[in-house]
Amino acid sequence: MLTPDVEIPLLGLGTYLIGDDQVADVVSDAIAAGYRQVDTAEGYGNERGVGEGLRQAMAAQNLTRSDLFITTKLWPGNPAWGDQPKDRRSTVASLDASLERLGVDHVDLYLIHAPYGAENRIAQWQGLLDAREQGKTRAIGVSNFSVRHLEELRTAGLPAPAADQVELHPWSQKPELVRYLTDFGITPIAYSSLVPLSTWRTAPGQDSAKTDSMRAEGEQSDSPFRAMARKHGVSEAQVLLRWAVQQGYPVIPKSTDPARIRANADIFGFTLDADDLAAISSMDRGDGIAWAAGDPTKGA
Ligand SMILES: NC(=O)c1ccc[n+]([C@@H]2O[C@H](COP(=O)([O-])OP(=O)(O)OC[C@H]3O[C@@H](n4cnc5c(N)ncnc54)[C@H](OP(=O)(O)O)[C@@H]3O)[C@@H](O)[C@H]2O)c1
Repeated sequence: MLTPDVEIPLLGLGTYLIGDDQVADVVSDAIAAGYRQVDTAEGYGNERGVGEGLRQAMAAQNLTRSDLFITTKLWPGNPAWGDQPKDRRSTVASLDASLERLGVDHVDLYLIHAPYGAENRIAQWQGLLDAREQGKTRAIGVSNFSVRHLEELRTAGLPAPAADQVELHPWSQKPELVRYLTDFGITPIAYSSLVPLSTWRTAPGQDSAKTDSMRAEGEQSDSPFRAMARKHGVSEAQVLLRWAVQQGYPVIPKSTDPARIRANADIFGFTLDADDLAAISSMDRGDGIAWAAGDPTKGA
């Protein structure tokens, strides 16, 4: 549960790097495959297509808006990149624009995408509180916030976020952050769960800090995830997603391939055992690598 009255489905569809013209079909394939949560962002430039896909799927499958869980994110503006940081009012206006593009009157979860612009973080969080009060989102949270960023909100006397969406997978387990989130009842949502796969973001132009040697590791026949996949009769992607849901993290795998979309949803029929979990617990390498600019939880 994100809050006493808002439940987030454990399985969602990620949509980063899916174009606005392609995403509607991907979203409706995913909903047909059983996904009920979709993750997008102002910064992904695909909210119109996501909204179109949701409408197509609702009509085709006789679903209503309340059957679906939609997350979108505020682009906070990063002064270090020359962006104008959002303030309290422009934060609410940004959500209004996202709602217009999505074609809905509210989302289920609205997140601050990253802890950029130290002097504006509190105002942005107040903007999210205003938006929730106005019924534009059912729950509010953050993304890529570290303990320090979360403590800043707490010491300002503001209510805690319901969720923190962060890069979490066996290579980036963030134990200190996860402990803090658990202590304060903040749900960790795992993104980029599939980073250790050799097939993760291989198309040209899909920037990240993943090195060629990390990519090569996934190809090795003795890769630990390959061994676990063989043992359970599943794929390596399913092992990685299953690890996250066994930690209690909702997952949001992205794929444009209908067969992968279906397979990524099929993660509830097996359980990683104590040996698997012990092996994975020793694989943590520290920072995430999904952002080319470096793990944003390290941001000022
Ligand atoms: N808040 C943030 O800052 C932040 C940052 C990053 C991501 N996210 C969110 O999290 C979502 C997921 O993260 P992500 O897109 O970085 O990566 P991901 O979902 O972990 O992995 C996606 C990559 O793996 C490939 N893939 C997917 N399923 C596969 C399978 N079954 N077998 C083999 N390869 C597979 C995909 O290729 P194909 O598409 O070709 O199948 C794609 O290259 C994003 O889409 C976005 O919604 C949020």
